[in-house]
Amino acid sequence: MSDQEIDLYYVDSAIGDDTVQHISPGRSIPGSRGIWNIVKFLPGGNGDDVQVQNLLYEPGVVGPPLCRAVKRIVRQKSPARDNSLMIKRSLLCMTRANHSVETETSKASNAIPVVRMLCWYHDAFYVYIAMEYCAIGNLRDWIHDYPFPGETWAREVTKQILSVLVELNCSQLAHRNIKPSNILIASALPIQIKVSDFHNAKWMAEDDGLRTQVGNLDYSAPEVRGERDHAGRVTTEYNTSVDMWSLGIVLHEILSGSHPFGRPGHPRYSESRYQEYLGSDSGQISLSLLEGNTSQYGKTMVAYMLSRDPAARPTPLEALGDQWFLKDIRPV
Ligand SMILES: Nc1ncnc2c1ncn2[C@@H]1O[C@H](COP(=O)(O)OP(=O)(O)OP(=O)(O)O)[C@@H](O)[C@H]1O
Ligand SMILES: [Mg+2]
Repeated sequence: MSDQEIDLYYVDSAIGDDTVQHISPGRSIPGSRGIWNIVKFLPGGNGDDVQVQNLLYEPGVVGPPLCRAVKRIVRQKSPARDNSLMIKRSLLCMTRANHSVETETSKASNAIPVVRMLCWYHDAFYVYIAMEYCAIGNLRDWIHDYPFPGETWAREVTKQILSVLVELNCSQLAHRNIKPSNILIASALPIQIKVSDFHNAKWMAEDDGLRTQVGNLDYSAPEVRGERDHAGRVTTEYNTSVDMWSLGIVLHEILSGSHPFGRPGHPRYSESRYQEYLGSDSGQISLSLLEGNTSQYGKTMVAYMLSRDPAARPTPLEALGDQWFLKDIRPV
């Protein structure tokens, strides 16, 4: 792992209760210099959270206040729980994910489909990762507030997430925490999403496989959870197809308002329905919650993504070439 790549984004900072002042000049990227005011906290999982900060002062910057989001990760220092390597890895994955989706045009317009990292800093207790702020919020809250957005909308969002997964795969990155709260809405009309949170991401080239149980159980592929695979074997290794499983769950939630292993209207899964699916002979997921609302192509897409056998799931490129994206959508 190259520390240099991460060091480029590091800024020395004086961190107070309400403000943060960046001391070292940092890079010339807006959002990595000046004095920032902490205006609110967005609660997250695992004791981490996200601060929303407004720019108070930056030499030479005038105009509307700039806003950023800062993920605050608790530093675990005891030898048994030391997470410094994990934090370094997530910083590295975030910088690589940013670079993987950057083109000359997107750089110029500052619009990339991955949340842009601005800088990072730390104190004795936390590591802080500053990134662009998506004021509209996340997909979890959006589909809660505007349920059943329709299949055309679902298709567009899925296409954008798949396009990011294509680039991540090319850079040998697995996100490992695709879920609605990590998909941010950059624009509502037209819908434009940004994939965020590379906290659990892994650069595959560093190792011969992925083994750690990470991410949120509701969205984790069976092989991540150490479940038996389709042939009854317990596997401890997995690959980037775990992101396709998670996307299948997200897509099901967008289309039906419910988790595929949950009860109608509930975005959380039930362990017994999940085990039922893993143990079923057919290997086919019951898509009863999609009945009536979703075209056959849409249902097939969800089932394809939620294949128990990781090798049977489509790659992001294969998924993008699926009939669902090419045909007229008519519910059956
Ligand atoms: N750049 C951002 N702009 C706007 N909201 C954000 C940004 N990054 C995160 N959030 C929101 O802040 C909240 C806390 O995020 P956090 O990542 O800590 O928790 P989470 O997404 O619920 O779980 P996880 O830690 O597994 O990713 C979430 O609602 C998330 O959508
Ligand atoms: Mg998150």
